[in-house]
Amino acid sequence: MEKTEISVNEYKVLDYIKDRKDVPEDSFNAGLDDRIKSSAVSYLEFKGLIDVKKDTYNTYSVSDEGRKYIDQGFPEERLYRLLMQKNKCSLEELKNDLGSDYKIAMANIAKMGIKPVNGVLEFTEGHFLEEFKSRRDALSRIENGEKIEDEMLEVFMHRGLVTRHRATRRIININENGRAALEGYGQNDYLEVLTPEMISSGEWKNRKFRPYDLNSRVEQINGAGLHPLTYLIENVRKIFLEMGFTEMHGHFIEYTGWNMDMLFIPQDHPARDLQDTFYVNAGKEFEFENPEILDMVKKVHEKGYGKYSGWDYKWSENEARKLILRTHTTVNTVRYLYNHRDSPQFVFSIEKVFRHESVDWKHLSELYQIEGAVYGSNVNLSTLKWLLREFYSRLGFNNIRLIPSYYPYTEPSMDVAVDINGREVELGGSGIFRPEVTRPMGLRSPVLAFGLGLERLAMLYYGLNDIREIYNSDLDWLKNYKIKF
Ligand code: PHE
Repeated sequence: MEKTEISVNEYKVLDYIKDRKDVPEDSFNAGLDDRIKSSAVSYLEFKGLIDVKKDTYNTYSVSDEGRKYIDQGFPEERLYRLLMQKNKCSLEELKNDLGSDYKIAMANIAKMGIKPVNGVLEFTEGHFLEEFKSRRDALSRIENGEKIEDEMLEVFMHRGLVTRHRATRRIININENGRAALEGYGQNDYLEVLTPEMISSGEWKNRKFRPYDLNSRVEQINGAGLHPLTYLIENVRKIFLEMGFTEMHGHFIEYTGWNMDMLFIPQDHPARDLQDTFYVNAGKEFEFENPEILDMVKKVHEKGYGKYSGWDYKWSENEARKLILRTHTTVNTVRYLYNHRDSPQFVFSIEKVFRHESVDWKHLSELYQIEGAVYGSNVNLSTLKWLLREFYSRLGFNNIRLIPSYYPYTEPSMDVAVDINGREVELGGSGIFRPEVTRPMGLRSPVLAFGLGLERLAMLYYGLNDIREIYNSDLDWLKNYKIKF
């Protein structure tokens, strides 16, 4: 191996650690500022002149509340001092004197054995003042980066006065190559820096400079990158465009009429309940956008269509006029097809929908749906099955499951499901629109439709176990995310 050149800074680090063992990076400075020292350590590691271990440890910081107590004393200390002055106090008095600290003070003084009897708190003799002082001292010690006993630390953390942080640092040791490099250092009398003076005096001609190491490591630069979800959206969009689909766009705020009634969802359907759908209070009434189809919609809901029987209830136009945050992007499809009903269509959208849902590992209340539809005379259920499998397989998923399902607006209906860690997760719904949906809109051919969850797909795509991780903005993940397929 060629002899490894080292810089002055690297020399200083090697020289410092040469007679020491397991030196934590943050325990010395060797005449260097922190940033330069850290970069010298990185270079030494890269050149194989030191051995590096990672050490993870805890640090503790005092919260704003904790700092207030260092200055003003603990609430229970203030309470105790009041008792010292007055000998006994009613709870009312204490409430007035301690204000917002009253509850904390009472709870903590009770833990020390002073409890109210018949609404009165009495002074109790004891080593309380010493105890308060020692607590305050302990908090200050933490503030100064010193250690305190574990038990008290736990109590402080429990009270929110101290926060624990995980930190890592490098522990370094010189190795044989490092010793060799150290010995060779200085023999060449290399210069590190070229100054304007050396150039003007010509002195540089007589000096030797440390050669550039062209193999040397450069710092990794994280340029701007796509958010993983954006990346996936771009991919999905590309797949549909490549398959010949046209992208459609809709609106966050929709008429209930378009979002539900046009889809033959009855007006007493549970999905319309306040606990499922966000209603928008617009402050005024809006006419329905397409009054010309309402008569047909009413007829279909109340009496059905042809041999289909309808829902048999009194349909109300007022319901259809209400504004909501759209609950699915199937509303994009029906509106688009209504406006483009004269020719076959292949359409998709990737847009947000809103549901009054409690958030957990697989549910969000605001999520993206991948919506799509094919309108044409030559399509059937097999086309739909092929389409769904084809779409997922182009993303890398070859084992989706299609299971029979139910939606008020499709017949037959199918759900798409996969297993995540042995748990079945539904990725979306699909089906062929019922005549009760297509006929009032003047659509004469079958419509294959599907609505798929994007974030659930992202979980699979990036190997996440919890859907919320997508929106956590964890920088490490945002910089280093990997596709699992
Ligand atoms: N709109 C349904 C949902 O939000 C999915 C779906 C779309 C079902 C199209 C059938 C047809 O879950």
